[in-house]
This record gives sequence, C-alpha cells and structure tokens, in this order.
Amino acid sequence: MLKIEGLCAGYGRIQALHGIDLDVPEGEIVTLVGANGAGKTTLLMSICGAPHASAGRVLLDGEDITHLPTHQIIRRGLAHSPEGRRIFPRMSVLENLQMGAAQSDPRHFDQDLERVLALFPRLHERLTQRGGTLSGGEQQMLAIGRALMSRPRVLLLDEPSLGLAPLVVRHIFEIIAAINREQKVTVFLVEQNAFHALKLAHRGHVMVNGKIALSGTGAELLANPEIRAHYLEGGTHGETAS
Ligand SMILES: Nc1ncnc2c1ncn2[C@@H]1O[C@H](COP(=O)(O)OP(=O)(O)O)[C@@H](O)[C@H]1O
Ligand SMILES: [Mg+2]
Repeated sequence: MLKIEGLCAGYGRIQALHGIDLDVPEGEIVTLVGANGAGKTTLLMSICGAPHASAGRVLLDGEDITHLPTHQIIRRGLAHSPEGRRIFPRMSVLENLQMGAAQSDPRHFDQDLERVLALFPRLHERLTQRGGTLSGGEQQMLAIGRALMSRPRVLLLDEPSLGLAPLVVRHIFEIIAAINREQKVTVFLVEQNAFHALKLAHRGHVMVNGKIALSGTGAELLANPEIRAHYLEGGTHGETAS
C-alpha cells in the first residue's frame, strides 16, 4: 500500500536518510524503531513531502506521491500524527479536530467526528476545553484523533508514547490496535519504545544512522538478541520482554 524506494532526504548539506527501502502492506501495523537521531522522524516527514526527497520514491497504492504537495498527499489517504503531538494549544479540542478535517469533504464531518469521539471518549468530555490544558495522554489522543479526521487509509504515528506514563502508554497502544483492527486503517508506527511497538506490530524495521539495519516480524525482532541488548533491556518500563 505504502512503498518507499531508495529514499534519500536531509536538511541542507546534512543527509539524514541514505536510501530507505520499506513496504507498509495494507491492513498491517508496521513499526520502525531506532535510537534518537537515527532518522525516523525525517522519514515520516519526508513521506509527507517535507523535507523533499533528494532521491528515491514514495508510492501510495502504486501512485508516485514523492513530489506532491502535502495537502494533496493527505487527500490521497495519508495522515500524520507528528512527534511532540503539535496540537494547537489555544484552540479547543473541537477546533483541533476541525483542523484535521480541513482537506476533507465537509459532508463527512459529523460522521467522522462521531467516529473519532467514540474512539476517544475522553475527548468527547472535553470538546470545549483548550488543547493546551489537556494532559499529555489526552493531547496524544487529540493528535491521533485530528489525524483520523481526514479519513486516512494509512496513518503515520511518530512516537505516540513519548513522555507518557506506562499506564497511559498501554492505553494509547490499545487504541492504535483498535484503529488498525476495527477501522481497517494501515499503520506505520515510529517508536523509541521498541518493546510495545514490536509487540503490537505485524512487521518491524530497525533504523541506524539513516539506513534500515534489520527487518523482520515483530516477534522475530523481539526475540533477536541484538535488538534486546540495544533497544529492549532496561527500556521496557519494568515489563519483561520475554
Ligand atoms: N530541522 C533539522 N535541521 C537539521 N538537521 C536535522 C533537523 N531535524 C533533524 N535533523 C538531523 O537529522 C538526523 C535525523 O533526525 P531525526 O529524523 O529527528 O531522528 P529520530 O526521529 O530518529 O530521532 C539527526 O542527525 C538530526 O540531528
Ligand atoms: Mg524522532
């Protein structure tokens, strides 16, 4: 469904991605794990068109979307929940969700809102509250909900667990599983929290210095001694990786 071929991108003279090949098949959760600075965020942003790819291609359902402007990429069914959530703190929850629907047919709005609020009852209770006054977990829900308002077929999630307490992290991951399973949305999940992400994912990839170093099923990567040593031990929030 989403296919990345030989993608290179960077910032000015700094090249952050060195020829990424990666497939996100329809209906799956695919995760990308890797240390801070590996290039994970750059990959998600470059799928959305900024920074531009300097080489390689991004295909969505076989269509080359590499050089399309971001709003046209969203219209084709891709949505991005960015690192750090980036909600609009002075806008209400409802206004934040309206922003997510800006590229959509207004006739869908009520139905899409209802679907998102069913997924996040906490947001339903806080529709008029300003985004900036929500807890970290609620802000993450809002960031995901806002992305879902554009009716994506593929959802890109950048570190949804960042900075959240373990119990909240667990809840967010359950919701991601439900979005995938019940709403049939394909998910490309970037995480430093490799344990939770690999447990959830059908397939995983490990990024090191702007390259894919290792790929496998979630279970294979969880069992891999190298992965355990680098990304899991001590990073499982008190849960055992076995
Ligand atoms: N806006 C930017 N300008 C210049 N360099 C950047 C910028 N954002 C990220 N980088 C660099 O690109 C590399 C990859 O960063 P990033 O994609 O944020 O990694 P990750 O998400 O895996 O932590 C890092 O070396 C980082 O310093
Ligand atoms: Mg990042």
